[in-house]
Amino acid sequence: MSEYKAKVCIGGGAGFIGSHLGKRLKDEGYYVVVADWVTNKFMKNDEFCHEFKLLDLRDLSSAVEACKGCEHIYNLAADMGGMGFIQSNQSVLFYNNTMISSNMIEAARRVGVKRFFYASSACVYNESLQLDPNNPGLEESMAWPARPQDTYGLEKLYAEEMAIVYAKDFGFESRVARFHNIYGPRGTWKGGREKSPAAFCRKAYCSASDFEMWGDGKQTRSYTFIDDCVEGIIRLMRSDCKIPLNLGTEEMVTMNDFAKLTMKFNGKELPLRHIDGPEGVRGRNSDNKLIRKHLNWEPSVKLADGIARTNKWIGKQIEIDRKAGIDVSQYAVSQVCKQTEESLDSAYDLSNSSKKKGLNPLLLGGITAVVGGALGFLFAKRK
Ligand code: NAD
Ligand code: GDD
Repeated sequence: MSEYKAKVCIGGGAGFIGSHLGKRLKDEGYYVVVADWVTNKFMKNDEFCHEFKLLDLRDLSSAVEACKGCEHIYNLAADMGGMGFIQSNQSVLFYNNTMISSNMIEAARRVGVKRFFYASSACVYNESLQLDPNNPGLEESMAWPARPQDTYGLEKLYAEEMAIVYAKDFGFESRVARFHNIYGPRGTWKGGREKSPAAFCRKAYCSASDFEMWGDGKQTRSYTFIDDCVEGIIRLMRSDCKIPLNLGTEEMVTMNDFAKLTMKFNGKELPLRHIDGPEGVRGRNSDNKLIRKHLNWEPSVKLADGIARTNKWIGKQIEIDRKAGIDVSQYAVSQVCKQTEESLDSAYDLSNSSKKKGLNPLLLGGITAVVGGALGFLFAKRK
């Protein structure tokens, strides 16, 4: 191990951001352990880690197994998706993510970690501050008083606080980044969990007569290219900044303009067809004053440049599917994921290797306590 800078664990490291981070850390000379309950769809394990551990991090003993011997832990594991997923799967991802976040920070304490990173989200911000498409930018302090977006955002806010107090109480360092819609090659691009950048590139490639858009398209977002995200995580992890930071750009765009940009890369100018769909907040932008102050850096890849690279990669994926006999015209529309209990029903599986229906009563007790605590905490006045 002495030839490596440090041994690090990435929870959820087979995912989009985790695998890019693992590759970068491996290239920089770290010994990278990835723990995930699935393998990466686009890369072989040895491209982004030295050890791959197939584990369900909702189980504490698995989280400890993932983290043992690691000086740095990055928790990027979460049941996660874009608006087509997080709004229609509130209970499922509440349960799954609360268990993962709680276990990973407790595992970090048990193994004596030195530094812990938690991947939070712009979804922690108060929804009432995101009603105007001309959002001037969300400052970090605006997460409180709390009214986060969906249970996904509520769990993220709670887990942020866990990372902060665990570090304070148990003598290690924790770092928290609030990601603003990360996109790039090797991200989820079909199936319902994809976010707008991948969905728009895919629709622009596959649409023939019009471009389908959830909502009136006047809603706004800012986006962050994956290379900037990885750079930001590494800079924050190495910094002395103990408070949550936005990791995003201030380049805000309407969904209508964003759709036109993706069509431009595909040589199309189709009319937009607005339909009902899960829209999320009306206007969201990052405010980067704090990241500039603490890291003397901020994400800099322009949306058009990042999308050019993402669009090219998605085009290749579509052609792979076409060659495999899939009718790719179906990709002109986006799905909304229906709520599924599959992951809850398998909560007992990986730790006990026997299929049980329903929630493990011990885990259910744990989740009730944790969620109850979270709600009590949110209603309490924050110091
Ligand atoms: P992703 O879905 O590609 O990666 C998450 C990984 O977590 C997946 O590989 C998944 O298999 C793994 N995972 C889920 N449940 C697990 C379990 N029980 N045990 C083990 N592994 C499990 O998503 P991503 O875009 O790479 O996001 C990484 C992190 O960043 C997540 O915490 C996400 O909430 C957060 N985030 C992402 C964005 C974004 O725009 N991508 C924005 C805000 C926050
Ligand atoms: N995903 C998607 N697919 N969104 C679409 C589509 C489509 O086909 N058509 C229009 N939209 C609109 C959505 O209705 C929403 O108003 C906007 O595009 C952005 O949607 P997403 O990219 O899916 O999500 P988000 O920006 O609201 O939230 C995402 O980013 C957060 C961090 O900033 C999610 O991934 C969250 O999980 C994440 O935390």
